Amino acid sequence: MAEATVVTYEPRGAARELFQSDDLEVLLSGAAGTGKSVGALMYLHLACLSTPKVRALVVRKTLASLTASTLVTFREKVAKEAIEAGALRFYGGSPQEPASYKYANGSVIVVGGLDRASRLLSTEFDLVFVDEAIEVTEEDLDTIVSRLRNGVLSRQRLIMATNPGSPTHHLKLRADAGRCRMLYSKHEDNPRLYQDGEWTEYGQAYLARLDSLTGARYQRMRWGKWVAAEGIVYEGWDDGVHLVDPFPIPAEWTRWWTVDFGFTAPFVCQMWAEDGDGRLYLYREHYRTRRLVEDHAKAILRSVEVCVEHCGRNQRIHDHAACEKCVMGWGEPKPRAVIVDHDAEDRATLERHLGMGTAAARKGVSDGIQAVQSRLKAQGDGRPRLHILRGALVERDQDLADAKKPTCTAEEINGYVWAVKPGNAGGLKEEPVKADDHGMDAMRYMCAQLDLGGRTRVRWLG
Ligand SMILES: Nc1ncnc2c1ncn2[C@@H]1O[C@H](COP(=O)(O)OP(=O)(O)OP(=O)(O)O)[C@@H](O)[C@H]1O
Ligand SMILES: [Mg+2]
Repeated sequence: MAEATVVTYEPRGAARELFQSDDLEVLLSGAAGTGKSVGALMYLHLACLSTPKVRALVVRKTLASLTASTLVTFREKVAKEAIEAGALRFYGGSPQEPASYKYANGSVIVVGGLDRASRLLSTEFDLVFVDEAIEVTEEDLDTIVSRLRNGVLSRQRLIMATNPGSPTHHLKLRADAGRCRMLYSKHEDNPRLYQDGEWTEYGQAYLARLDSLTGARYQRMRWGKWVAAEGIVYEGWDDGVHLVDPFPIPAEWTRWWTVDFGFTAPFVCQMWAEDGDGRLYLYREHYRTRRLVEDHAKAILRSVEVCVEHCGRNQRIHDHAACEKCVMGWGEPKPRAVIVDHDAEDRATLERHLGMGTAAARKGVSDGIQAVQSRLKAQGDGRPRLHILRGALVERDQDLADAKKPTCTAEEINGYVWAVKPGNAGGLKEEPVKADDHGMDAMRYMCAQLDLGGRTRVRWLG
């Protein structure tokens, strides 16, 4: 065991208040990059280093997002020296036990996604950190609070960090009602951005990037305000209703793909399944910038392939795609049509590299929007006709995440707003703002295809 692990950390602002307070529930709320995750993770790390047998938990809504963000911060910005000194090590998990960081003194930080929560939450904890808490439901939080009773620390705590959302979000209401203490974290609190009363060079560049955001996203990510998006196009959308947990899609459901091209802006390929009642489920999605169409085509084909003839080695740890003896083939039905926007050159390239024909999308914006809106409404049986599966995104585009732009279709919806008509104070134009709308376009093509008459069949090449 390392005798003296050196940890250098200067908590400021909200992070400092976190260390000085002892409220059961704390919400670190603030603009992008203000030091919320570092502060909360440091709190857990120091508690684990200084007290034996502490049980802590770090979660996000999904395991994939936790791994790509919070755990990178933990490993590289929070626990780096202590890991190098041998005070803790990563344990990858087993079927019986979730992944965790195990400390030499018997403390542990379990890590995971609430998408696989049953195993995580079957035991009790002293400290829980929920990162990007805006993504989790009230029920998730209530379950977590019920697990806060390990009793090694005298004060059990739920610490949450988030960028702000709408003022009616359950987290904001929870804080307003006094159930949790809201601590406002600012850019000046982060020494990497602000030192000795001045913005660092890095800080200036970081803020300049946030200054290019628009609408509610700008108010929230740049200034940390809980503001509503004005003039939302899909007012009928409700994360709690339309976002659903993944489930195995029956093989007989019809598949459709929709594509919106982009290079600097994201290229989006959505894969939809249509059930027997005509309901649509977005079950897989590619959403990436700065990639050639042919590379998108490869990634798309890779995402539908499974191993159909196995070489016989251990199936679970084996990389089928890299094995010369495994045979990869389609693991799901081929799409009835690949519906794409009109760029002729990109379309031809995509067809060539997918080996499939494509159909041109119906591009009428207002008809398409109406088709989506009507699918979002609950039907007689109380269910809408359009859903997105959580975790549908195949691979997160880190550049988009760093720039605080949407990284998937589900993240665009609540910021997709009507344009304000110039000269007409407060009036709304019959057209959405053309920003962060690439998943919106592809989703509109899907609904227009099914609901605005005449179905198309895919032309197969080769
Ligand atoms: N107290 C600190 N000392 C040194 N560096 C810090 C500190 N706080 C934050 N940083 C640096 O700033 C970066 C961003 O911090 P962090 O990830 O905690 O921000 P955040 O508020 O959680 O951002 P987001 O809104 O994107 O979730 C960290 O990767 C780290 O490099
Ligand atoms: Mg963070």
